Amino acid sequence: MFTTYNQVFIYTISCNITCKVVVLLKGKKDIHERLEEIVLKKEKNYLSTSEKANNKLILHEEVFSSNFLPDNIFHRDEEIEELTDHFIPTRHQKYCTDLSIYGVTGSGKSLITKLVFKTLSKGIDNTYYIFVPCNEYNTPLAILKYILRIINIEGKGRSESDYIQQIKESIENKLLVLILDEIDLFLKKEKSYENLIQIFSDWNKCVLIFISNDPSWHEYIKDHRTISRLHLSNLIFKPYDTDEIFDIIEDRASLGLKQGLISKDLILEIAEFTAQYNGDARVAIKLLSQAASIAESNGCEKIESTALNKAINSLEEDNKINFIESLPPQHKLILVSVYMANRNFKKSDFDTIYREYEQLLIGSKFWRKLSRNTIRIYLDELETYRLIKKEIGKGRGRGKGRESTHVFLTFDKHKFKEKIICKMLRHDIKHPSPTYAALSSPTQKTLPLSSYQKL
Ligand SMILES: Nc1ncnc2c1ncn2[C@@H]1O[C@H](COP(=O)(O)OP(=O)(O)OP(=O)(O)O)[C@@H](O)[C@H]1O
Ligand SMILES: [Mg+2]
Repeated sequence: MFTTYNQVFIYTISCNITCKVVVLLKGKKDIHERLEEIVLKKEKNYLSTSEKANNKLILHEEVFSSNFLPDNIFHRDEEIEELTDHFIPTRHQKYCTDLSIYGVTGSGKSLITKLVFKTLSKGIDNTYYIFVPCNEYNTPLAILKYILRIINIEGKGRSESDYIQQIKESIENKLLVLILDEIDLFLKKEKSYENLIQIFSDWNKCVLIFISNDPSWHEYIKDHRTISRLHLSNLIFKPYDTDEIFDIIEDRASLGLKQGLISKDLILEIAEFTAQYNGDARVAIKLLSQAASIAESNGCEKIESTALNKAINSLEEDNKINFIESLPPQHKLILVSVYMANRNFKKSDFDTIYREYEQLLIGSKFWRKLSRNTIRIYLDELETYRLIKKEIGKGRGRGKGRESTHVFLTFDKHKFKEKIICKMLRHDIKHPSPTYAALSSPTQKTLPLSSYQKL
């Protein structure tokens, strides 16, 4: 068989038969020549990757990750003092009032709270301090199971009430300090979820801390009795200003990057840019690490402003995509229609876009087809969001002399396809139309329609 295809298999079996190597060789080259070639090629690869490794600019990737707890905390002394003051009694199993912490995203709420409670809990046995990230544990059952796991109790039974009972019993002579981070995500998922808050607020052995970047998170609680049971005081985390962000990222650069990689001027530029972005320290840290990885992949010795500008552009693209993600489903579908029109035709005029829109709905039982007029109104809206741009055709009036207006997307199309279209395909399109099917890879599965069913 091998001679037919002019192929030779070399099958080497080591003495103890632990390692088998199968080499498929094409052509009539002598085996020694071929092996030499392979060794040379592999050695070249090895040397070039180890050379690249020597030129690494990011030395400690982990310091840029969102769950990194830095040893140096800047400009949050007041908040640390206030939190510690408030919760000192809990170290002696004494009840204190519940607390609502809020502030813009990236203002250090999760970080500071985690660190303060980590220290408060040291050497304490009779108070449980439990930090629940509600973006991860976002149903009552998940939260209850998580609490049981942290207090080291094997959850018996199956229902929420079984778990609640078990927790209640285990804190009988103790105190539970429950920190619910990103509480708004939990409450807005389902109205009935507020019952869990009501239960905890009823226990005098439980102190609650709510963290959110939405100052009106408690409006998700519809039952006024629950709100009145909570004894809430507030702690606000202000957004960082330029100087404060400067200190945070200067320290992060010294921890994670090769020494002298970024100048103070560029750090200041990042800080100034981010201070305008609501003072979000997370954005500043992301920009720093992205600029460093762009410089690294370009083989540069230092971070230059070009790398930083690229990082800023890519961040703005990401923000646009996040914004698109938050749009209502029909708006997204119209953007997909423009995408298809841009992709398939040179002419992306209104008629083509509307035809693409109709095509996308073929085979779907769940979408309500919008009229041409409504689509026009939505397109105007998308233009004001600067997600599309229109090129007005020349000529006046209607009819032959008039060129049509063309519509284009103004954001990164690859990111749009990856993050929006693919997600729509996975979650929302039960019966994809042929056009939708053409967008997906052949192996991609289409899962049952969820939120779009309501349309
Ligand atoms: N004062 C600070 N000193 C050092 N690093 C900080 C400080 N504040 C925030 N950071 C860093 O910024 C990032 C974001 O902080 P954090 O997660 O606490 O923000 P947040 O206010 O909880 O935001 P969100 O509302 O989005 O959850 C973290 O990676 C943290 O390391
Ligand atoms: Mg947080």
